Amino acid sequence: IASGHTKMVLITGCSSGIGLSLAVMLAKDEKKRYRVIATMRDLNRKDKLVEAAGDAYGKTLSLAVLDVCNDESVKQCVNDIKGRHVDILINNAGIGIVGPVESITIEEMQAVFETNVFGVIRMIKEVMPDMKKRRAGHIIVISSVLGVQSVGFHDVYAASKFAIEGFCESLAVQLMMFNIKLSLIEPGPVRTDFEIKMIQEVKERECPGADPETVHYFKNLYLPSAINIFLAVGQTPKEISKHIKKVMETSKPSFRNLTNSLYAPIVALKYADESGDLSVNFFYHMLFNLGPVLHYTVIAMRFLSFGFLKNHSVSPK
Ligand SMILES: NC(=O)c1ccc[n+]([C@@H]2O[C@H](COP(=O)([O-])OP(=O)(O)OC[C@H]3O[C@@H](n4cnc5c(N)ncnc54)[C@H](OP(=O)(O)O)[C@@H]3O)[C@@H](O)[C@H]2O)c1
Repeated sequence: IASGHTKMVLITGCSSGIGLSLAVMLAKDEKKRYRVIATMRDLNRKDKLVEAAGDAYGKTLSLAVLDVCNDESVKQCVNDIKGRHVDILINNAGIGIVGPVESITIEEMQAVFETNVFGVIRMIKEVMPDMKKRRAGHIIVISSVLGVQSVGFHDVYAASKFAIEGFCESLAVQLMMFNIKLSLIEPGPVRTDFEIKMIQEVKERECPGADPETVHYFKNLYLPSAINIFLAVGQTPKEISKHIKKVMETSKPSFRNLTNSLYAPIVALKYADESGDLSVNFFYHMLFNLGPVLHYTVIAMRFLSFGFLKNHSVSPK
């Protein structure tokens, strides 16, 4: 129950990764400022969360079923909250997809958009009208650095994150009239077991429909670099959660929030050249001409990331 200084927080996709870590971190807030409704589409997957929440489970953290792709499920979950009162909505549920576009079916692409785009919009449509009435609230969307600048073989995932960024960019302007904050969180790679497993799995997968040359570029150039980058500069779900908590607790949160300072130059590159050629040429050379150099650069970054870089993140301000 949201009362006094306690804020009601609704989070989607809490069975693993960032959602799980954030739900636990907020529920264990020292000052007990949050009541967390940690949601997931399948409650059979609750054990890891319940175990991590420990004593907070049943006190500052409760569980609810919510499938962002299902109108009824979303409505039911919000109706079950007293007064439908949500102070902070965190749209975290999302799915990834990587590979040559020829090998991904339209149905698979639609599933990504259903979750990453329409899932977020469905949540916002359900919660925003009550926030507007109260003239208060904060909507947070876990986007990605790939929602600002894409790289090869992430075409469909990036398209979904670009779509939600465009939606939010427009909505944020209107929401200012109602004193509702909207913030995008843009992590770079996040080291979850899931992510590493997905990349390994993709490595072994056939890519039906894609020509051998494209498959070669994908498997032998792109994937090894991607794995190296994940291991070298990937953040942990806990680091991302800390960043989100900071954004929640800042009085004037920024609209865009990169979590990894190493990605700031990549974003700057994009804004430095409105033709877009600088970015496209840069990534082309990185991938196809500088593969071996990239490998050593990544080793150097990995070395550095154990030192001071690891402790640096982009401040919400
Ligand atoms: N990992 C990265 O490198 C990275 C980088 C940038 C941004 N992100 C973004 O961060 C967010 C969280 O991802 P993660 O890395 O923590 O991955 P994750 O561990 O796979 O977590 C994704 C969560 O979303 C849930 N989910 C999927 N479809 C859903 C649906 N229809 N309804 C409700 N929940 C659903 C999953 O639940 P199930 O257990 O039921 O599948 C899971 O709990 C995503 O939006 C992702 O795009 C991740």
